[in-house]
Order: sequence, then structure tokens, then C-alpha cells
Amino acid sequence: YQMQIDRYGFLLHLYYGRYAEGCMDYLLTYYDRGFSANPYDADHDRSYSMDALPQEFPTSGTGDFRSPALTIKNSDGTYSCDLRYQSHRITKGKYGLPGLPAVYADEEEAETLEILMEDAVTKVQAVLLYGVLPKYDIITRSVRIINQGEDTIHISKAASACLDFVSGDYDLISFYGRHAMERNFQRVPVSHGKQILRSRRGTSSHQYNPAMILAGKDTTEEAGDCYAMVFVYSGCFKAEAEKDQFNQTRALMGLASEMFSYPLGTGDSFVIPETVMTYSAEGLSVLSHNLHRCFRNNLCRGRWKDQVRPVLVNSWEADYFNFTGESLLRLGKHAAELGIEMLVLDDGWFGERNDDNTSLGDWQVNEDKLGCTMGELIRKINAMGMKFGIWIEPEMISEDSDLYRAHPDWALVIPGRQPIRSRSQLVLDMSREDVTDYLTERICDIVEKADIQYIKWDMNRSLMAAYSAKLPRDCQGELRHRYVLGLYKVLEAVTQRFPELLLEGCSGGGGRFDAGMLYYCPQIWCSDNTDAIERLRIQYGTSFGYPMSSVSAHVSVCPNHQNHRVTPFKTRGICAMQGTFGYELDLSKMTDEEKKMAGEQIAFFKEHGRLFQFGDYYRLTSPFENRDYTVWEYAAQDGSEACMSVVYTDMY
Ligand code: DGJ
Repeated sequence: YQMQIDRYGFLLHLYYGRYAEGCMDYLLTYYDRGFSANPYDADHDRSYSMDALPQEFPTSGTGDFRSPALTIKNSDGTYSCDLRYQSHRITKGKYGLPGLPAVYADEEEAETLEILMEDAVTKVQAVLLYGVLPKYDIITRSVRIINQGEDTIHISKAASACLDFVSGDYDLISFYGRHAMERNFQRVPVSHGKQILRSRRGTSSHQYNPAMILAGKDTTEEAGDCYAMVFVYSGCFKAEAEKDQFNQTRALMGLASEMFSYPLGTGDSFVIPETVMTYSAEGLSVLSHNLHRCFRNNLCRGRWKDQVRPVLVNSWEADYFNFTGESLLRLGKHAAELGIEMLVLDDGWFGERNDDNTSLGDWQVNEDKLGCTMGELIRKINAMGMKFGIWIEPEMISEDSDLYRAHPDWALVIPGRQPIRSRSQLVLDMSREDVTDYLTERICDIVEKADIQYIKWDMNRSLMAAYSAKLPRDCQGELRHRYVLGLYKVLEAVTQRFPELLLEGCSGGGGRFDAGMLYYCPQIWCSDNTDAIERLRIQYGTSFGYPMSSVSAHVSVCPNHQNHRVTPFKTRGICAMQGTFGYELDLSKMTDEEKKMAGEQIAFFKEHGRLFQFGDYYRLTSPFENRDYTVWEYAAQDGSEACMSVVYTDMY
């Protein structure tokens, strides 16, 4: 990776790729190109233009008409920011980002490069942060913007990483989808005109994942150049790829610019969330291995990050809202007989929650429904030899709840307008300290009162028409980002308070499956689609950016509840073992034959779980190309063990 401070103090990007020696500035070309802007310092040299030169951190206002990484609206209403090099330093270890998730590393594992840039007129500074982790071939990037000027500025676009390529022809690999069909693989040429992947939903979203890969035309799983950019963030984002007028490629990863405007007063600073980048000269498998190893070891935290996760049974597809204390004990009894290690009580255990119209926010145990206290139920499950976990959806509020009746202003609703509902629920204003304090206190209280070892943290709608009563009117453009910071604050408090707790992320399945959440939750419910055959595609797409230890997958009943497909029990087991393994069906209704197979699956997983969750993962066929069968393999990093899975999918 090479960059250069040029003769005018601009920071030019020279090279990212295979290990190379020598200065690569011969890659820069200078021509007099029509309609190109020339900085004043270049005098009358028309061949010097920021519109053509590759840059580390392009800004609006220097004469570059491609997409900028940073746009600032100055106090005089102009959109001009001209950052020039001031100084740099290299330190041991990896920078951290207070309040934001980020890759962490000690002094032996990483170095940090900080480059200070400044606009001479406005005194706006940008500290470009680079974290270098050679053992995974990873470079991370973040940027701290500091306003050293005398007037308030507004940041209206902020990306933490830009990759400029002066030559080459690339494909863009991205992961699109919808609820219950997330992270479909798409590979298309980077072409003239901008390709944008983004979320404006407040979460990273089911629709586009904040991860993209630029791959050479001939790049395969085993060979060829490829570059990944993965955003360590769980809210609105924007990823862009563009081939410019001179056939150069620019890729950007950062915050969404729509509905975003962040004021920065004198002395204030703003941190752009981190982008993780990796390059592979040996194709997509190595690219994924770099990300997997880095995320598993240096992004996930807590006791469970390198432990095989417990095999669990979840009550959702077994009983939905219709469980009782008795039915849960029955589920527990069957689970224990099979060797399952944890029972998870999903939605419906609190308030008056017998359907999805009510009670979010009222995190009080419904003892009438359970027929006992939560503590008593857990003791009985523990006595069967199993751990216990619960579902919770802290960021939400039902209009029919005591919490809403007490604090209607805690919901994100625009004054004078009717709220926009989704799944009949509203969203709490996570930018408010009273809300985040309340949630932290409630969650800690629930976990403290009973022996809860696991929490599935769900989030079942997108943000829209949002307004915070606590933010000044001209600061509403901060809201979506502040929401995410509030979420991270609560997650951080809970994980610090209960380091033993296993947190599983969820947003209607995989609507917030991103590297930001992995900092708090080492695993995420991959999709509400539990059909084994469709999961092959969802899990295939997910595997490019995220480790298999983070992919939560369960065996469910047939006909499947989402698409009514009938799939052999064995196949369902093999597909669920592609991730953290569990069951989500009424075990008491299984046939003897199925029980026997389940027992064998669980025993097999217990024996090989470490390989499945922490081995190197190889995609041997693509379910998007090969409609007959899907094959994948895990290999221990020391070469001692490997397992290949083959699923025939000829029912397409
Ligand atoms: C959406 C989740 O993805 C499901 O697994 C389940 O927990 C429901 N929410 C419960 O409401």
C-alpha cells in the first residue's frame, strides 16, 4: 500500500496490491485534459488536476468531480474543503475509536499511521487513521474530523475509506436482499456511472450489506486480485463504485449522506466509523479468510469469541407466542434428552405480549403465562442440565405499552404528524440519554435477577420519518448516527457488565448482520428464512465477509414455515451446521427416526464444532451458479482435520 505527499501537499494514493518494492509514482499520469480543474498552486500547469489524480481522502472543493469521501458545508454556505498534509506519525498497536466498534490489536500485532491534514482557510483538520495488521493482511481506516476554526461547520458526507485505481477493469461483488432472503451474491462489472449500495433505514439492512469486493475480471475463489471494503457500522451507510471518464476506478465506504448533516462547533470532533480493507492476490477464499480471522480474533470480544457456541433450541418456530411454562418444560425435557445445551425463550414472555401488536418496552415477566417466575423456570431448565437464554427487542416501543403511556416522547415521531408504524411498533429514540440509561438498567436488571446466559437482541423495523424531541431542530440530521451511537452505548454497558453473557444479534433475521454488531455479539441470527435450501444461498453470501462462527443457523420443521418446502432432516442438519448450530421446532413432535438423527447430529457437532466455527471455510461451489448441488469445506488451520459438506439441491 503506497501513498505520496505530492509537491503541493495533496495526499495521493499510489498503490494497493501484491507486495512490491520501490516508489510507484510512475503510475501517475499528467495530461492537459479538457474541463479539468487545476489548483491555484499549480500555476498554469493544466496537466495537474485533482479530477484525475488518485487520492487517499478526496474532498468536495478541490476540483475533483468524482464522488468525495468528505463534504463540508462551511459557515459561509460554501462546500469547500482543501486538505493538505501537515504531519504524520507511526505508533505501535492499533488506534481505538471511543464509542464506536473497531478492530483492536496489541503492540505486537499492529501499527497505526496517523496523518494530519488541514484546510488552511477554515482550519478544519482531518486525522487519517490507518491500522495495519500484517498477520491478516488487513488495513483499517477511520478519520477524525476536527474543527479548529472559529465557525460551526456541517459535515454532510463522510466516508472513512477511498480506494482509487488508476488502471484495471473490475467487477463489483455485493450482497443484496430482502427480509428472509438476505445477502444474495451479485457480481457485475464496475462501469461508467456510479453504483451505489446503501441503507437509509437506520440499520445496515436486509437490502444491501455494508461490504463490497472489487475483483479482477478473471478472479475466482482460488486465483486473482480482489479487494474487500467492510464497514464496521450498523446504521445508514453508502458504498460507491465508479469508473470515471478516464477509466479509473474509485470505491468509497462510509456513512450515508442522505438525511445526514452533522454540525461541528469550534474544537469539536467527529469520528467516521471504521472500514476494514483486505487485498488478496490469490482469489476470494483468501480474501474471506483474512476477514474471518481478523473478525473472529480482533473484532469479536468476550468469553465466547473463541469458544464453540452451545447447541440450542429456540422456542420461536416451536410455539411462537403460544407457549406456556408447561410447554417450555416439555421442550426442555426433549432437548435435554437429545444433548441440546441451551433453551432460548423467544418473543412473548413479557407484558401482555401474546401477539406482535403490544407490550414492547414493558420488559416485565408475564408470570401468569409462565405459571411461575422466570427464576423458577430457569432453575427447572438448569436442573435438566441446560443453560437458559431470552429474546429481547430493546430499541422498540408498542403504543399499547405502559412505557409508551408514560413516555410518548421517547418514540421517534415527527410532531404534528401521525407516526409511521411497522410491525405495529414504533422506535425508541436511542439518541436520548434517558432512554439509553433506562434500557441499560432494565436489561441489566433482567439478567441479574435470573441465571440468563444468552440474549437474542432483536430489532424488527426500519427507522423512517424520525424526529428526536431532545435534538435541536437544526440538528435532526445527526439523529440516525446518534441512534447507532446510543445502541452501541447500551450494548457496551451490557457486555461490560456481563462478560460471560452470549449475545446474539438479530434484526428480523439478518437485517443488521454487520461488522459493527460483531464487536458486541459474536453471532447473529442469519435470516428469518429457516428453509435449508434457501439458507444455502443466504449463508453463501454471508460467508464472503463474515466468519462462520458468527452465522446463527437452526434446524426447523417441515414443511418449512416460510416456503413450505420439504427437505430431508439430514440435509437440514448439514445446512445448520454451516454456522452456530441449533434447533427451532417442537421437539416433542419429532418422529423416533428424527430424534435419532438429531441426537447423532448434535453428537457430531459437539465433536467437530471447533472445525466448523473456527476452521478455514472454503466455498467449493456457488448455489447461485450450480443449481444441482452446493459444496463447502472446513479445514483446520494446522491441516489436521477437514470436513466437506455436499447438499443436493435438484429440487430448484
Ligand atoms: C424476528 C426474529 O428474527 C425471529 O427469529 C423471532 O425472534 C421474531 N422476531 C420474534 O418476534
